[in-house]
Amino acid sequence: MASDWSRGSLTVVGTGIMLGAHITAEAEAHIRQADVVFYVVTDEATAFWLRSLNPRARSLAPHYADGKRCLDTYGEMTATILAAVRGGQQVCAVFYGHPGVFVLPAHAAIRQARAEGYPAVMCPGISAEDCLFADLGVDPGRSGCQSFEATDFLIRRRRFDPYAALMLWQVGLVGELHKRPRYDVRRGLAVLVEVLCEHYAAGHTVVIYEAARDAAQSPSIRRLPLADLPAAPAPPNATLYVPPRGDAPVDPAMLARLGIDARDLVRRW
Ligand SMILES: C[S@@+](CC[C@H](N)C(=O)[O-])C[C@H]1O[C@@H](n2cnc3c(N)ncnc32)[C@H](O)[C@@H]1O
Repeated sequence: MASDWSRGSLTVVGTGIMLGAHITAEAEAHIRQADVVFYVVTDEATAFWLRSLNPRARSLAPHYADGKRCLDTYGEMTATILAAVRGGQQVCAVFYGHPGVFVLPAHAAIRQARAEGYPAVMCPGISAEDCLFADLGVDPGRSGCQSFEATDFLIRRRRFDPYAALMLWQVGLVGELHKRPRYDVRRGLAVLVEVLCEHYAAGHTVVIYEAARDAAQSPSIRRLPLADLPAAPAPPNATLYVPPRGDAPVDPAMLARLGIDARDLVRRW
């Protein structure tokens, strides 16, 4: 179906992680120009700033409720966004970080809008992972990099390479599918440690990482032995970084097939 921007439309943008500093010029322009803005952000300062950019900005946070399934919350957020698009409005949906990174309603709203023939685009933003690369000095090209949602990592028994960097998102909520007010994350963390210890030493240093959310803060970088994770519960906004176990072994037969001299590998990094 052909898209028609004179009818309703949807643009999904991200704020980045650091208030005011990470937003792209493209995202800010969309926020300012929209007929209506819906947002999901983690703090009131960002919400206030969004409302200053566009007084027609409204929070989607009222869709969250204790004990409610996350999928139901995301379904309602998507429905709210789509209702405005169907109403003929130029809608901008704003999520923190990169709007397409671990943001189910952002992708769902884009897919649904396009399926109904409305123009819908997503603009990239700065994610927590981008901040982690900068703050921890991690180059994903060095060893490779794997990213999983922490609960998904466990319940699907994800296969991964311990010689590559590993990032586990939502580690502070591992084992939790509902928004339970008194959920004790230590149980999920104990299981996570058990699974990771199949691949790393118990003393392997891991990092509970929180990127700074405003320029006055520093990032929080807590290094600890893997086995100590359950005793140091991560907050909901933290990401667990598990450094590679070491350099992955090189297959000499493959080097020979590709005509690569092993000494060049050392020079490369
Ligand atoms: C629903 S996801 C949203 C991710 C976000 N869209 C992004 O691009 O970073 C929430 C998870 O992102 C990660 N996250 C969010 N803010 C963070 C921060 N300030 N520092 C580190 N990780 C963060 C955590 O893993 C958190 O549980």
